[in-house]
Amino acid sequence: MLTAGAASLLAACGGAGGASGTGNGGGGSSSSSSSTSSSSSSVADLPDPATAPALKTHFAPKFKIGMSVDPWRLEDPLVKPTLLKHANSLTAESVMKAEPIGVSAAVYNFTEADKLIAFAQANGMEVRGHALVWHRAAPSWFFAGDPSQPGYKATVQARLETYVTDVVTHFKGKVSAWDVVNEAVSDDPSSNYRNSQWYQIFGPEYLVIAFKAARAADPAVPLILNEYMTEQPEKRARFLAVLDAAIAAGAPIDGVGHQLHINSNWPSVPDVRAALQAVEARGLVNHITELDVSLYTTDAATCYGSPPTGCQAALVQGTPAYANALKSQALQYRAMFSLFSEHASVKSVTMWGVADNHTWLSNDPVPRLNHPLLFDTDAKPKSAFWAVVDPAFVP
Ligand code: G3I
Repeated sequence: MLTAGAASLLAACGGAGGASGTGNGGGGSSSSSSSTSSSSSSVADLPDPATAPALKTHFAPKFKIGMSVDPWRLEDPLVKPTLLKHANSLTAESVMKAEPIGVSAAVYNFTEADKLIAFAQANGMEVRGHALVWHRAAPSWFFAGDPSQPGYKATVQARLETYVTDVVTHFKGKVSAWDVVNEAVSDDPSSNYRNSQWYQIFGPEYLVIAFKAARAADPAVPLILNEYMTEQPEKRARFLAVLDAAIAAGAPIDGVGHQLHINSNWPSVPDVRAALQAVEARGLVNHITELDVSLYTTDAATCYGSPPTGCQAALVQGTPAYANALKSQALQYRAMFSLFSEHASVKSVTMWGVADNHTWLSNDPVPRLNHPLLFDTDAKPKSAFWAVVDPAFVP
């Protein structure tokens, strides 16, 4: 039985359900939640935004600072200035996944992804490729055909290898890393592997197929296995078994992506430190790939079921509960960035979003106010930002 906090991570996305705070079992469509007032407890309590140091400078040369964004979000007047000041890395929130890139076998739509690459190149930012193989963005054409027919598995393998080869080739020299496989691990303790269509057809071999194809297409780009809830001991054990088996089978894996869709109460620093150290013990690098800190910490596990029930009531801006939630969030962000700074293996820290006016958590696990990022709905630094950059700041 997962603890409440751990179950919240189960919600991170793709999980079967969680108990508090973050994510959902499968939604994930972001939404922009405009808000007339700032999402900070009280802007008056915070330093002048004009005095905010640039995150990318503050943390250089420890690690890159990334934010997820899709190209149309660049039209939001709040987004571009925040990215240009604070980020030196971008991740496509959705446009570099097999949906939408994979139109059909050997037919691709790179239009939106290329817009993001162009913006990054014009502004000296790297781009993390996300993600080549993910059960939630796997167009049906990959699996077309009769599985009972001889040759079906070889046909699907050829489609997968061709897709990975062609997409990695298209972005060769333009991405700083690839999340080759995303969320391969089961949340169910009865199996180490998520029972995706990829797993049903190939078993664990699909990881080796995907990583080998990516390495063959680009010998230089770091190849990452991306996962959520790696900081929860039981899931981490399953994750490490999957990782070790893939490496033993010849998968050229360079590092691990820890999504870290977390909340103010979970995980603890020791939990995350253990995840980072387990990767270091294998001589691999760590990427923090999707960091956000949900304000909700007491959702029931059923909140991530379908339909969701037992979800914590939505917080209301301007109330003491909301102010307390922001303070807890600030302390959690401070603790996490302090931990990342202690580990030379951490090469990048990417927030899943730019500012609180656009976050997938506005709809996951239920539509409700959530302000999980460092910048408020007006893209002004929150308590969490000041807690991260100033050890003397009192949230
Ligand atoms: O762009 C199309 C639009 O043309 C179409 O009209 C519309 C209606 O279906 O869909 C739009 O695409 C949506 C896309 O976001 C861009 O907004 C997809 O439906 C929607 O599923 C997609 O959601 C993204 C989701 O991944 C799936 O790709 C979320 O924004 C994104 O935050 C979420 O991110 C995932 C990570 O990749 C993996 N870890 C969990 C995380 C949260 O679920």
